[in-house]
Amino acid sequence: MKFAIIGCGAISKQHIAAALNTGLDVVALCDIVDTGIPALLDMLPEPQRAAVKIYKDYKEMLPELRPDLVAIATGSGVKTRIALDCIAAGANLIIEKPIALSLADADAIIDAAKAKGVKVCICHQNRLNPAVQAVKAAVNAGRFGRMLHGSARVYWNRDKAYYDAAKWRGTWKSDGGTLMNQCIHNIDILRWLMGGEVAQVFAYTDRQTHDYIEAEDIGLALVKFQNGAYGVIEGTVNVYPRNLEETLTLLGETGTVRAGGKSLNVIEEWKFADADDSETVKARFGENPPPTVGLGHTRVYRDVIDAIQNDRAPAISAEDGRAAIELILAIYRSAATGKPVELPLKDGATVDYQGRFA
Ligand SMILES: NC(=O)c1ccc[n+]([C@@H]2O[C@H](COP(=O)([O-])OP(=O)(O)OC[C@H]3O[C@@H](n4cnc5c(N)ncnc54)[C@H](O)[C@@H]3O)[C@@H](O)[C@H]2O)c1
Repeated sequence: MKFAIIGCGAISKQHIAAALNTGLDVVALCDIVDTGIPALLDMLPEPQRAAVKIYKDYKEMLPELRPDLVAIATGSGVKTRIALDCIAAGANLIIEKPIALSLADADAIIDAAKAKGVKVCICHQNRLNPAVQAVKAAVNAGRFGRMLHGSARVYWNRDKAYYDAAKWRGTWKSDGGTLMNQCIHNIDILRWLMGGEVAQVFAYTDRQTHDYIEAEDIGLALVKFQNGAYGVIEGTVNVYPRNLEETLTLLGETGTVRAGGKSLNVIEEWKFADADDSETVKARFGENPPPTVGLGHTRVYRDVIDAIQNDRAPAISAEDGRAAIELILAIYRSAATGKPVELPLKDGATVDYQGRFA
């Protein structure tokens, strides 16, 4: 399967590692600047390194190489145009999270992919972590009973050097704030595991310490799901001096689970009324996996390749990506208006909040 990547910055190494781990034929690296290209070339074995083509303009690459699968890993604000061009060229897509920065753009991607018959997967890779999959299996098996309450907590640090390294970060036009960028994985997983669509949110967002970015560096939200359960989202990049916590807690009538560790790879608490398998599960998911480039992304790639080969939907679909940004855009709206916001939303975009913290 011919594979190309568009956007060769910080996250692109994960994609190249995943592509190599899954036997894809890396045919092109595309970026408007060449800073990130040498590191990716170094990762490629021969003969792929000699054969791979480098493009500044992905629009030249698409008709020349006709890739089967393209990963889009550019800054968040330019992904929709690129995705639509790739879909028009018949490529299947792995789009880095978030799918887009507006519901209209997410819908355009979903509609175009349907019309063209290509697969689109969004890189919410933590969903496929074995520990998170174990929690999902417990949800599916009904072990929680009635779901009551869940929380997603991201207590992180992002400093000036992080934002200085890429000017699109923290802007309303090209990124959004910590909820849209860092916390989206956990927000997506909370929504997915609580087993119900969101009915309403009430939120505060603020820019407490990062006066050099436009968007929020803290977001606090209360969520009411359609199934009557509640959710709490707490996301910040203001923690001194470094990342402190990333946890997901699910409280059901007959089950309690807390996942933590790095990227929710560790089960910290596991109690169910139907069986006492706590020690086994906590032993199985007791430690973070050693840091390995491409580990999480490889699971996404395996799934997408199988989805293409067997003509099924990818495990993390474009619709899932849309649902994640819909919830975040509802949080932004509630925080800006000071009122609860009902879902589904008809529209919404990060640019609606330009100037909010000016
Ligand atoms: N899944 C994850 O855990 C994860 C982690 C980090 C970042 N991301 C996402 O990945 C995306 C990229 O983030 P990053 O930190 O790697 O950004 P980055 O700024 O380091 O890299 C983006 C690259 O895209 C290039 N680019 C911009 N416009 C382009 C165009 N038209 N054609 C080709 N290349 C273009 C830039 O020159 C840059 O090299 C973002 O959407 C971000 O949210 C996901």
